[in-house]
Amino acid sequence: MSNAKTKHARLLAWVDEMEALCKPDHVHWCDGSQEEYDRLCELMVQGGTFIKLNPEKRPNSFLARSDPKDVARVEDRTFICSASKIDAGPTNNWMDPREMKAKLAKSFDGCMRGRTMYIVPFSMGPLGSPIAHIGVQVTDSPYVAVNMRIMTRMGQRALDVLGESGEFVPCMHSVGRPLADGAKDVPWPCNPEQITIAHFPETREIWSFGSGYGGNALLGKKCFALRIASVMARDEGWLAEHMLIVGVESPDGERTYVGAAFPSACGKTNFAMMVPPKGFEGWKIWTVGDDIAWIKPGKDGKLYAINPEAGFFGVAPGTGANTNPNAIAALTKNCIFTNVALTDDGDVWWEGLSEAPKHCIDWQGRDWTPDVKTPAAHPNSRFTAPVSQCPTADPSWEAPGGVPISAFIFGGRTSKDMPLVFQAFNWSHGVYLAATMGSEATAAAVGQAAVRRDPMAMLPFCGYNMADYWGHWLNMGRRIPNPPRIFRVNWFRKDDDGKFMWPGFGENMRVLKWIVDRVRGRAYAVESPLGWMPRHDDLHWAGLDYDPKKFHELMVVSREAGRHEAVAHEEHFDRFYDRLPKELLYERELLRSRLWRSPETWELSAEH
Ligand code: OXD
Ligand code: MN
Repeated sequence: MSNAKTKHARLLAWVDEMEALCKPDHVHWCDGSQEEYDRLCELMVQGGTFIKLNPEKRPNSFLARSDPKDVARVEDRTFICSASKIDAGPTNNWMDPREMKAKLAKSFDGCMRGRTMYIVPFSMGPLGSPIAHIGVQVTDSPYVAVNMRIMTRMGQRALDVLGESGEFVPCMHSVGRPLADGAKDVPWPCNPEQITIAHFPETREIWSFGSGYGGNALLGKKCFALRIASVMARDEGWLAEHMLIVGVESPDGERTYVGAAFPSACGKTNFAMMVPPKGFEGWKIWTVGDDIAWIKPGKDGKLYAINPEAGFFGVAPGTGANTNPNAIAALTKNCIFTNVALTDDGDVWWEGLSEAPKHCIDWQGRDWTPDVKTPAAHPNSRFTAPVSQCPTADPSWEAPGGVPISAFIFGGRTSKDMPLVFQAFNWSHGVYLAATMGSEATAAAVGQAAVRRDPMAMLPFCGYNMADYWGHWLNMGRRIPNPPRIFRVNWFRKDDDGKFMWPGFGENMRVLKWIVDRVRGRAYAVESPLGWMPRHDDLHWAGLDYDPKKFHELMVVSREAGRHEAVAHEEHFDRFYDRLPKELLYERELLRSRLWRSPETWELSAEH
């Protein structure tokens, strides 16, 4: 307990208890200083966990290679341990909290022998912000400690905010590989067979065992900022969402903030750092966050959002100067890369970054040349980078009061039938659009696209019954006098030849501008069976030659497809029958009756 600089009795008692349970050789309280960060990185270089990158190419940056069995979040080993099963709902794995605690007590007993236990205090959100919350992670992974320093406001400053009696979420973590007397460590200790990630929503605790990777181990992110925070938000009247936050600035300096939810691997980081296309000279996109938003009602009745994180933990493959130059600029220094390739000149490479090098070392430490069949970087390889290094970081990204949110955007990945954009008729219709959001996972065996429903992109991240979560969203709309407008988008519609109909990336700015104009009350829309839609003329087309006929095809609503979709919604809702808010059933009936009255093929036309 040598270097603890806190008088928080409950925290000290908890750490004592964890030390007695885990039996580490040493205990280190992280102060969050640069000196400590450098020392831990150097320790990992010596132990083989980190490779220091060429300081001329990538100053103060490191590469880590995980155990090949520990490369991703593991949803089937993630549990919501609420007192009663129904409170976890049909979309979460559940275990009785007492049973889980008993299992964890065994796993954690002596699990840190031969290791150092790091105490990592952190703030999710700007220090002292009324929207922020404090967590303390106990971990035996120095990799986790240094990543947490980038991803959160970590160290003594978080303890100072916590004071002597503040609330904190205890986050217990071990890689689950004790070192028996003098045994030699491995570069990436983990225990893949025993991975368990347990959340206790009633007592607001997190216990994670066996994995050192990403969302399994950096407990501030998915475990705290989404699963536990979603429960806190329900109880306290706010929202913890899997959303990016961006500010859209017009040439005359008017800035409008929106939150957008897309399922994992649908380009959230690219959207959050979008480069406005040709024809949008003078427009700017400002990045507040790329993954998570905490949103609280302000005294003026508006919703205010912060990014609880301080860093990006982004997927590397596909990130390049063409697709996301702002991310590339954020990665030039002070970064940690995990499971990407190492070039011969001591830099990093991944598929989509640039032309493939003639030779490099792949993510598993093997020689790689372009004729090798496997990718050089793991498809889920990551960069950890400070938000402050992003050229588009919003001037208010650390504002303690957050930024005012004017619109919510929800978007799945759908190759057929779903138009480019439409606006919900009202708040509860918007909740319906978000609750039924789906993405295609191609079922190769049958050659058909199967839809995975991912409500609000929160399927793996909602810490309680999803139907109650929809009820909470409906209630939020009632409590706010003028709630944000809600939109559905789909960048992924394909034509009959299987080609994407919409160019995406920066061109999404055209859709975003219409959304901003709608919330500002200055854009026209027509009523379609699905929602309010822009006509061709309502979008700003300067700089892009896009055939109006093709735009009409992109916006078509098929009555038959719509009916099918409504039936699929019914099946989706059936899983939640006992808790499903009635409003959603009525919304489905309204959708059906709008389709009933619509032509077989509803199209934007000259009359509109
Ligand atoms: C992420 C995810 O890593 O959503 O952000 O899976
Ligand atoms: Mn995410």
